[in-house]
Amino acid sequence: MKKILKNFKSSPHSSIKWDNYFEIYENCLNRFINKNITLVEIGIGNGGSLFMWRNFLGKKAKIIGIELNPEAKKFEKYGFKIFIGDQSDPAFWKDFYNKNGKIDILIDDGGHTNLQQITTLMESVENMNNGGVILIEDTHTSFMNYKGFKNPSKNSLINFTTNIIENLHRRNPMVKKRMNDLSKKIYSIEYFDSIVLFNINKKKLSYSKNLHNNKKLNPHFIDYRFKRPNAIKEYSQENFVTGFFKSKISKKGLINRVYENNIIKKYLKKIKK
Ligand SMILES: C[S@@+](CC[C@H](N)C(=O)[O-])C[C@H]1O[C@@H](n2cnc3c(N)ncnc32)[C@H](O)[C@@H]1O
Repeated sequence: MKKILKNFKSSPHSSIKWDNYFEIYENCLNRFINKNITLVEIGIGNGGSLFMWRNFLGKKAKIIGIELNPEAKKFEKYGFKIFIGDQSDPAFWKDFYNKNGKIDILIDDGGHTNLQQITTLMESVENMNNGGVILIEDTHTSFMNYKGFKNPSKNSLINFTTNIIENLHRRNPMVKKRMNDLSKKIYSIEYFDSIVLFNINKKKLSYSKNLHNNKKLNPHFIDYRFKRPNAIKEYSQENFVTGFFKSKISKKGLINRVYENNIIKKYLKKIKK
């Protein structure tokens, strides 16, 4: 059994987590064990997860909880630091990071609405130590339109993060876009069932360089990328060509595009089934 699952089960207080989370926790948090690091969890509930984090990471870890419910302050008697506040309030975060400085691990297990998740992420990225991780939990709420989550929508957490995917690609000079703060801080984003994980690594991040080994041996290569003469033929064979397009068959570019769209539409259908 995973060490962290044992720590979850033996916690003296109750906690609720999905069973697939423990493998993810262990894979991304192992390297922080017995280190002088700070973990912050939003959403304390009955407090069980605070004990799980401490038992997993060891005594050197500083464990901080954030909660709307003022009663959560009672967990301070067990040595945790508790802040009462609203994760969807940017002013709360400014004050929080002013008081605590940068952190290493952020677990968002709070209210799981779009605004709460997005505000937490955006106010925290710049306050993460190098090598840190932001783990947003219960991201299935991006696809729920009940319990007040109002999704799917263009402002769901998952849709929001796809904009950040573009930011990562700005590190490639071929994209010809200036790197922004997120391009310089987020090394990678990992998607799991109900968890999105952000790996922060500022040191590694600058424009990517194109490498070509043995250049003298093979200075050039023939790129067949756009040499696909059969598109129109396949297109007709598959009976996609309407009378309209038959009459414009000489417009190879247009036909190829319709051909491509139809193929991709078929794959999309498979995804959305
Ligand atoms: C799912 S529970 C947390 C569970 C806990 N981490 C555990 O493992 O059992 C969610 C908690 O988030 C708190 N919460 C909800 N909205 C919040 C907000 N906007 N800011 C801070 N905490 C919030 C709730 O009061 C609740 O205690």
